Amino acid sequence: MSDIKKRKIILDCDPGHDDAVAIMMAASNPGIELLGVTIVSGNQTVEKTSLNGLKVLQWIGKGDIPCFQGCSRPMIREKLNAGDIHGETGLDGPVFPPLTLKIQEKHAVNFIIDTLMESDGDITMVTTGPMTNLGMALRMKPEIADKIQEIVLMGGAYTNGNVTPAAEFNIIADADAAYVCFTCGRPIRMMGLDITRKVLCTPDIVERMRQVGTIASDLFVDLMGHFCKTQYEIFGWAGGPLHDPCTIAYLINPDVIKSKYVNATIDIRSTESYGRTNCDMFDYMKKPKNCHVAYDIDADMFWDIVERELARYPKSEK
Ligand code: BDR
Ligand code: CA
Repeated sequence: MSDIKKRKIILDCDPGHDDAVAIMMAASNPGIELLGVTIVSGNQTVEKTSLNGLKVLQWIGKGDIPCFQGCSRPMIREKLNAGDIHGETGLDGPVFPPLTLKIQEKHAVNFIIDTLMESDGDITMVTTGPMTNLGMALRMKPEIADKIQEIVLMGGAYTNGNVTPAAEFNIIADADAAYVCFTCGRPIRMMGLDITRKVLCTPDIVERMRQVGTIASDLFVDLMGHFCKTQYEIFGWAGGPLHDPCTIAYLINPDVIKSKYVNATIDIRSTESYGRTNCDMFDYMKKPKNCHVAYDIDADMFWDIVERELARYPKSEK
């Protein structure tokens, strides 16, 4: 069906195990046109997360999707990485073949600006890492705001964080950038820990995906081996929460999540609650609404989507 209008996206990420799954899903779905993968410092240094982006694209045979290295540190604060969860490389677990793909010369922020400015305002910005690249792009060229169709992010929580009781990693890692994005005036859809903790990649899910038997499901299984182990050791989860793919699952089938349109702000002033996403879920404050905050996810539907996307890839020779 060649006349299907594809949803154009730029995926800004910090791969990262769950980012890698998001890349695999976005790169395969026929309803999504992945214009580029832009990389930021987050789960590991930007040098490592850039290599990881390339490694994933090469593994799944999607070397035609351009990959751009972006900011190496947050706008203002000191750098925060998540090696405890994602390992020394940022993508520990799988054994990748030697890398032949190369990173693009253009800086990720310039790619975001140029691509948005040349567009008809039909590009969705998906962020699954700290929002530094998009925040910087909005500050460098404020006109891009009008060109963003929607920002769909994995980040934040209206319940508990995972770095502090108040804050989630992607937001606290660059709360100033998140603040810029949340105040840019464009529609925002926030998938926070509130829903991503409902899609735990338990051993039976890993086994189910193993049965898919494609090059992508092989990578999924190798990735989850490490990710689920560290998530269990640090948080005690029975399986790793598959945070970032919630964004792509939503784009593939919006019915997979339920969300509420509310006022949401980023706390960049306080000490203990720094980086919190304050979501007025009861509209108590009667402030202008700016964000669709996801509050529930259909886990069965979600895993069906993941399985279907992994199945689109060539069969593996394992
Ligand atoms: C987020 O932090 C990262 O470690 C994950 O990739 C995800 O984007 C979850 O808090
Ligand atoms: Ca991420």
